[in-house]
Amino acid sequence: MAGGAGFIGSNLIRALLSKGMIVDCVDDLTTGRQSNIAEFRRNPAFRFIKLDVANAQGCSRLLRRHYSQVYHLACPTGVPNIEILGEEMLLSSSTGTYNLLKVARRSGAQFLFTSTAEAYGDPEIFPQAESYAGNVDPVGPRSAYEEAKRFGEAMTRYYGRKHGLDVRIVRIFNTYGPGMSPNDQRVIPQMIGNLINGEPVPIYGDGSQTRTFLHVNDLVAGLQTVMERGTNGEVYNIGGSKQITIKALFDAVKKATGLSGTAAFQDHFISDHRGRWPDTSKVEKLGWRQKISLDQGLREIHAEFLSTMELRRRVEKGVVASLGKSRNQSTLARP
Ligand SMILES: NC(=O)c1ccc[n+]([C@@H]2O[C@H](COP(=O)([O-])OP(=O)(O)OC[C@H]3O[C@@H](n4cnc5c(N)ncnc54)[C@H](O)[C@@H]3O)[C@@H](O)[C@H]2O)c1
Repeated sequence: MAGGAGFIGSNLIRALLSKGMIVDCVDDLTTGRQSNIAEFRRNPAFRFIKLDVANAQGCSRLLRRHYSQVYHLACPTGVPNIEILGEEMLLSSSTGTYNLLKVARRSGAQFLFTSTAEAYGDPEIFPQAESYAGNVDPVGPRSAYEEAKRFGEAMTRYYGRKHGLDVRIVRIFNTYGPGMSPNDQRVIPQMIGNLINGEPVPIYGDGSQTRTFLHVNDLVAGLQTVMERGTNGEVYNIGGSKQITIKALFDAVKKATGLSGTAAFQDHFISDHRGRWPDTSKVEKLGWRQKISLDQGLREIHAEFLSTMELRRRVEKGVVASLGKSRNQSTLARP
């Protein structure tokens, strides 16, 4: 798996290891964290390979291994990072996808590319079905991420057809859950993190833009469903079913966590999309369903953040030796 030290990747690794699979986790730790994979380190079925997937020479190491499945999740994430790591986003999804497709081809492995709802850009059609081509400005402020993923999709589809490789693409919509950092700038961790710290919560524009939210356990189940039962060459949306405005999400977070605080309405630092809402009927035909409610997921993250922040405080006071060590001993909410 490429991108396994990230938020989604580490949750997927846990699921694959629990099924008895052997997992190579390839990651260059751009946005991933060693602490996300610390719990797997002693598992003989797990191996960490620090590697930039855009580096062809480095990836040639992987050609010596045999794989039955290749999940490609490696790409820096986070809207603020589009300005900082845009080049890395473009390279990991273009050259990186090409390098990993070659690795999959060598083993005759199934290949899954994780794309994004942002491949639809600022959509004019609701909900977005996989057949919708999207509304993307190729040189717009978010294009380094949007076009990176669109290129990765094209590369995956073309290479699969040309070389007879079994490939599929998943367009992931906003996902949240255990394993996100309290410093993560994505909307749910940012809201909960700021409320815990007594800081105002930034809301961009008037907060009327919509999103859907999916718990990472549901996404992990969906990714495996598509890998195991999806059709070669097809694209599948996976995301939450209910649209919610960001303003209403702020109220839902306060209600679920019992926290109080204020919103700081402001202009978006880059540009925003008015809405996102996946048509998930295609993946549902494979037997996948969203199971975890937003309310339940929000309570879970709140509990995890409190636990992580308490550990940090204890580490700073010298009560425990190191955060890495104590994370394993703690009772962090885990799926
Ligand atoms: N979380 C979401 O809501 C969401 C939504 C849409 C799409 N996605 C996609 O799902 C994938 C995983 O996202 P995530 O939320 O876990 O983000 P993440 O940032 O936590 O994980 C991405 C991982 O990829 C690694 N990485 C980045 N560039 C790399 C490179 N060149 N070589 C090797 N490793 C590299 C990072 O270090 C990180 O561990 C990404 O491709 C992302 O675009 C996520």
